[in-house]
Amino acid sequence: MIVPATPENIALAARRLREGSLVAFPTETVYGLGADARNVEAVQRIFAVKGRPAQHPVIVHIEGISALPRWARDIPSGARALGAAFWPGPLTLILRRAAGVSDIVTGGQDSVGVRVPGHPVARGLLAKFAERGGDGIAAPSANRFGRISATRAEHVVEEFADEVALILDDGATRHGIESTIVDLTRDEPVILRPGAITAEQIERSLGTKLRAASSASPRASGTLDSHYSPSAVTRVMFQSDLLSALGRVNASLQIAVLAHSIAKPASFDGPWIDAPSDSNAFAHDLYANLRALDASDADEIWVEAPPEGSEWIAINDRLRRAAHRG
Ligand code: TXA
Ligand code: MG
Repeated sequence: MIVPATPENIALAARRLREGSLVAFPTETVYGLGADARNVEAVQRIFAVKGRPAQHPVIVHIEGISALPRWARDIPSGARALGAAFWPGPLTLILRRAAGVSDIVTGGQDSVGVRVPGHPVARGLLAKFAERGGDGIAAPSANRFGRISATRAEHVVEEFADEVALILDDGATRHGIESTIVDLTRDEPVILRPGAITAEQIERSLGTKLRAASSASPRASGTLDSHYSPSAVTRVMFQSDLLSALGRVNASLQIAVLAHSIAKPASFDGPWIDAPSDSNAFAHDLYANLRALDASDADEIWVEAPPEGSEWIAINDRLRRAAHRG
């Protein structure tokens, strides 16, 4: 059931979570599919509903940095620095897990992902949940495994229909792509997933340079080669390649285009979206745009390659995975 995120419905959602039900709620990045992180059966239901492999860990959303010791041990000073700088906000920290944190939450690893979300509805939900004796809310993105994340409540309905007790609707999310994930369990901090908080911001706050993620990274489904995928074959193409390919398509192949700088050629009559040319606005609309083009039943979605600047890193990361087949 989809309901507006009023104070009454947020309180109802907190009650549902305590009862062991799943609740979808907005964060500043994407919508999350939440469960009581201390309730193993409830967290297991997230995996069942998403179709997500059991060894993929989920992020625990907490009210504030003071809750961190209940979830993590041996908390390094870098975690406190990053928490102070970016929480509440779109940053997830991977830390050594505290005793008693379930294998279901951590995917059987000795680490746990934790984030203090900044969205007022997520914060309100965490506060009401705490009033009822709740602790953290485990919440992956509210989409089926491998598919595009949900940035609007209607997307959550498209993904799960009746399988979720309650969907709190607060319109489109602010950032539109998932949080930056920083792993602090190794000798040096590593970004496992780029996001709204940039590497430069993290480096400045930690006072150290970051190493790029390697294949030795612990499992993070957002770091799989293929993820965030529309059903249609998706290709990211340079402007000139895209324009010349559009000149060659024949009627047997239905193409839908996500452009941000080129104009729709007069000869092309398929679905076409002019995305914003500003990176923040592009990210905000990205998943809704991919969903809209996918819904057009095109055989292929052709995306005009965004620029390579640092503010486009997270966007290019998601597009690369959306386009990866295999
Ligand atoms: O913005 C976000 O982070 C959203 C909102 C709802 O908070 N959540 C989200 O969750 O994107 P999810 O599950 O779709 O992606 C979280 C990523 C996954 O790739 C997961 O494998 C990784 O975080 N992760 C979680 N705990 C981890 C751990 N202990 N070690 C390594 N990776 C972890
Ligand atoms: Mg996800």
